[in-house]
Amino acid sequence: MSVSEAFIRGIPKAELHLHIEGSLEPELMFALGRRNKVDIPFRSVEEVRAAYAFSNLQDFLDIYYQGANVLQTEDDFRELALAYFARLQADGGVHAEIFFDPETHTDRGLPFSVAIEGLLQGMREAEAKFGVTSKLIMCFLRHLEEESSFRTLRAAEPYLDRIAGVGLDSSEKGHPPSKFARVFQAAKSHGLKIVAHAGEEGPPEYVFEALDILHVDRLDHGNRALEDAALTRRLVEQGMTLTVCPLSNLKLCVVHELKDHPMKRMLDLGLKVTCNSDDPAYFGGYVGDNYVRTAQAVGLTRDDIVTLAKNSFTGSFLDVASLARHVAAVDAFMAAN
Ligand code: ADE
Ligand code: ZN
Repeated sequence: MSVSEAFIRGIPKAELHLHIEGSLEPELMFALGRRNKVDIPFRSVEEVRAAYAFSNLQDFLDIYYQGANVLQTEDDFRELALAYFARLQADGGVHAEIFFDPETHTDRGLPFSVAIEGLLQGMREAEAKFGVTSKLIMCFLRHLEEESSFRTLRAAEPYLDRIAGVGLDSSEKGHPPSKFARVFQAAKSHGLKIVAHAGEEGPPEYVFEALDILHVDRLDHGNRALEDAALTRRLVEQGMTLTVCPLSNLKLCVVHELKDHPMKRMLDLGLKVTCNSDDPAYFGGYVGDNYVRTAQAVGLTRDDIVTLAKNSFTGSFLDVASLARHVAAVDAFMAAN
């Protein structure tokens, strides 16, 4: 029996893989472009959406970095965050650990403080307004040199009490985790959690490096780990959380059809997977759509949905008491529905 959409959307869940710059909807892009007098190379929202046909990760990144140019003030980042949290709440989301890419903004002349102050303000307001909690993860762009990530880590020093962790994103191929060994070691010595994109387009070796060199607390994507049986077993045994993003995988041609997505296989193998949206404004769906469309395409059961929801909390960086409270809320939802 298939699971109802109301059950999937309603179940309490956290989102652990979301680039806040990737939640910039074309409507907000145009509004901010007008407000900040930044040119957008499209004439309409429809034209923007039509341009979101990607063949690979790099195709997407080129458009995504261009879109971020409209973000100029703290208030822009605050508004961006608030819009995302409204969507999260509508999808049963109660917690999110959101990524931001400081270098995307500092490299075009914005002070480090602008993005982070605006996002932190939006996160505080979202908690008051929607009851949604959140944590912030600062990602380093892997197509840049490690020296740039060190500069970013230094700029973040006044904010380290408000940053949960560091991550690694952008163009994966040709930029292995080992390129960033020293900066991740420095981040760890600051007490920051460690996550990294690995195995989205890159080979299983990059997943090994994320584990053995960066010592990740969580792995972002990880799809290509399935090509290596020993690596897959190790991820299962370690109980490593994977933040899987099905609609992103579809849009970036990591899978060619959603019915071929490995989410069901990953669950059946005992991998600790979660379901996330990555860059929802670009990939055609927020976290609820990722759950619903994947469930329909690969045949997820009610138990699978409950496992995904529980994993999203137990794989989060929340304290043990909050985590237990959220897992109990999933059990209560299950009992009532
Ligand atoms: N930045 C934003 N989305 C990303 C993704 N899916 N992979 C790598 N870098 C990203
Ligand atoms: Zn991502």
